[in-house]
Amino acid sequence: MRLTGQPGNFGPYSDWEGGQKLLRRAVELGINFIDTAEAYGPGFNEELIASALHPYPEGVVIATKGGINKPAPDDIRADGRPENLRRGCEASLQRLKLDQIDLYQLHRPDPKVPFTESVGMLATLKSEGKIRHVGLSNVTIEQIEEARRIVPIASVQNRFGISERNNEDVLDYCSKQAIAFIPYGSLGAHPLKQGAPLANAQGILALIANRHGVKPNQIALAWLLHRAPNIILIPGTTTIAHLEENVAAASIKLTEDEIEALNQM
Ligand SMILES: NC(=O)c1ccc[n+]([C@@H]2O[C@H](COP(=O)([O-])OP(=O)(O)OC[C@H]3O[C@@H](n4cnc5c(N)ncnc54)[C@H](OP(=O)(O)O)[C@@H]3O)[C@@H](O)[C@H]2O)c1
Repeated sequence: MRLTGQPGNFGPYSDWEGGQKLLRRAVELGINFIDTAEAYGPGFNEELIASALHPYPEGVVIATKGGINKPAPDDIRADGRPENLRRGCEASLQRLKLDQIDLYQLHRPDPKVPFTESVGMLATLKSEGKIRHVGLSNVTIEQIEEARRIVPIASVQNRFGISERNNEDVLDYCSKQAIAFIPYGSLGAHPLKQGAPLANAQGILALIANRHGVKPNQIALAWLLHRAPNIILIPGTTTIAHLEENVAAASIKLTEDEIEALNQM
């Protein structure tokens, strides 16, 4: 999402070549899951990913989303009408240069459209082979259950992190039901603002970070990876230095005491 025009994640990313290098470096470092959406750019982020990575190395999953239209930087419109989801999915397939999208997520339920109609279209796209797995984003447990009565749900993407835990019930539900949970804003960033509040966090995060010789944001990511085995991290960045730092967080081993202290944070 960050590799788009700024402000407002709108338009093409200004340093197109730099964005391609960053994406290739991510894959080189072993990253095999990249999250995007039609709304990022809109369309330009998917085009950047395809221009950098297509033909995709084996095992690399590009997850995208549909159901939000973005005609201007500050104009985010949920549009979960079946015809818009079909249009969006077909456009994403073209931009990503794919015959099938491994994971297609409903970006957000549209209050103007019955939820079952939106999910029903994702089920249809799956049965047509355009989607391999269906995911949801910005949903409640009730909505996940409603969707699962229509089609298997592979993943849920909700806002969650060490400093924002109000989706803990959704995470626990997903863990129990073997559904992948993809927390966004895992570094505490506001979607439309630059900078990660957790990068400069003080207190227990900074203390534990000092002990490991790493940065607080890395402890925040490590805590998530220790929190549940079904968590897939998607920290956003525009710099290779931050990318490398975030990837390195996967190797941090927290002790039981540290986890307990962070749980109480
Ligand atoms: N489903 C949804 O509704 C939804 C909403 C928002 C986002 N998302 C997804 O979640 C992803 C991440 O979200 P996000 O980018 O808003 O939030 P985030 O991952 O919490 O934070 C990204 C911000 O943190 C900075 N940052 C990253 N690594 C850093 C590091 N090591 N040290 C210091 N600063 C660092 C980045 O700046 P630099 O560029 O300087 O590194 C960027 O401004 C998006 O790419 C998107 O795929 C989904």
